[in-house]
Amino acid sequence: MEVIETNTIKVNGITISYTDSGEGIYPVIFIHGFPFNKQAWKPQADFFKKSNRVITYDIRGFGESGTNDEKTSIALFADDLLKFMDALGIKKAILCGLSMGGYILLEAVTLYPDRFKGMILCDTQCVADTPEAKEKRLEIIQQIKENGLEDFAKTFLETAFCKESFNSKKKLIEKLNRDIIALPSKVVVDTLYALAQRPEKCTVLKDIVVPTLIICGKEDKITGIERSEFLFSNIDHSSLKIISDAGHVSNLEQPEEFNKCLGNFIKALLK
Ligand code: MLT
Repeated sequence: MEVIETNTIKVNGITISYTDSGEGIYPVIFIHGFPFNKQAWKPQADFFKKSNRVITYDIRGFGESGTNDEKTSIALFADDLLKFMDALGIKKAILCGLSMGGYILLEAVTLYPDRFKGMILCDTQCVADTPEAKEKRLEIIQQIKENGLEDFAKTFLETAFCKESFNSKKKLIEKLNRDIIALPSKVVVDTLYALAQRPEKCTVLKDIVVPTLIICGKEDKITGIERSEFLFSNIDHSSLKIISDAGHVSNLEQPEEFNKCLGNFIKALLK
């Protein structure tokens, strides 16, 4: 398989690392979840570059993107995304985000609906953290400050993948584990605070006019399918696909099925 080249661009006072391959009028831009990086979209980039222009990028602080001392927030990540599109001269795109990537899209779509040709919300939700979920994030932050990232990475990956894919995708999980452990602790801690403080977006779902596909792994334990069902019931022009034998990272756990759902949506959108 041909390797996709990585580029960098200055955006919003930081350097963004990204890939840009294939051709098409409306690029498909993929936004990764926490605490991953753009490589989490490799099965999609390799597949869709044959028929579309495909862009993956590292959210500030993750992968090979830089960061600065601006306070981390989902709103800042959304601002980076829009400025990244501006810098690449992209007026409108098909935007696909998983989990935290979905939080970023729900922030961006209400502010800049004209920049969206279509939206794919994968394994994500519109609710804010409950007080219990916030408490749990603070415990994890404390644990990372005391012991580093190893326990956090292990527990997160065990929870994110469904049991079957956790056992069958050992090599992939080892690589993800290495990438998480290599992150600066500060980036992980600051992002956990940002996740804990993110505002709810359920009350704005009714205003979304962008055609939307919602995808969720049937065994997602982090953002369960009831969260996707809620998005589906409250976003006009949306459809919902549940992927069997997948947990919270459905695009990596069942890439073929995921690509099929996404491919059908994109085809219908561009017809
Ligand atoms: C993610 O996958 O991006 C995170 O699990 C989101 C979250 O913890 O809320």
